[in-house]
Amino acid sequence: MPIIAPSLLASNFLNLEAECKMLNESQADWFHLDVMDGRFVPNISFGPMLIEFFRKATTKVCDVHLMIEEPEKYTEAFKKAGADNLTVHIEACRNLHRNIQQIKELGMKAGVAINPHTPVESLKDILADIDQVCMMSVNPGFGGQSFIPYTLTKIKELRKMIDERSLNVKIEIDGGVTVANAKSIIDAGADVLVAGNTVFKATDPIATIAQLKAI
Ligand code: DX5
Ligand code: ZN
Repeated sequence: MPIIAPSLLASNFLNLEAECKMLNESQADWFHLDVMDGRFVPNISFGPMLIEFFRKATTKVCDVHLMIEEPEKYTEAFKKAGADNLTVHIEACRNLHRNIQQIKELGMKAGVAINPHTPVESLKDILADIDQVCMMSVNPGFGGQSFIPYTLTKIKELRKMIDERSLNVKIEIDGGVTVANAKSIIDAGADVLVAGNTVFKATDPIATIAQLKAI
């Protein structure tokens, strides 16, 4: 069964307590928390302060996706805020290997995110050191965009790379995941589905999460 990681970016920020309660009662596995700095991506969302509140509101895994420049400056802050998984973008890291060691030394799971234009081969030399790859299936920065179909080819390629080396790395797909395309994403080899608008704009979010989980 896939891991379901609803992205709180699409939730109602005037009603966060109720949104967290809903997720806690649902079959969601992770809280996916999108941090944007207005530099790496053309949007600004939230930082460690809000993540501290999410941490207090759930016992589920807090999966923090950093879409920021110089993420190494904030690793400790996100650890203190309560991140379980910390993902940095390959395109934002000059010393990716060092950043990954730093995340792991602090006791978090380490993830590397790649943008739609970044080839899967660029992960080759870091793959054995990480716990998850966040493969962007839209250009990062905004929720509610359409899934880029070529991502399916990239998932298959990454699945092959992981399996050939018997690595224990999860493939997380982020952007434009819907109930309609989720099966093709899982069939291609993904382990984790991030879903923002599909969950939070649904008339019955709990049932929608259950549908994704049952794929
Ligand atoms: C986009 C974020 C995503 C986003 C997904 O930059 O990384 O996590 O919230 O939203 P949907 O599922 O609506 O595409
Ligand atoms: Zn994300």
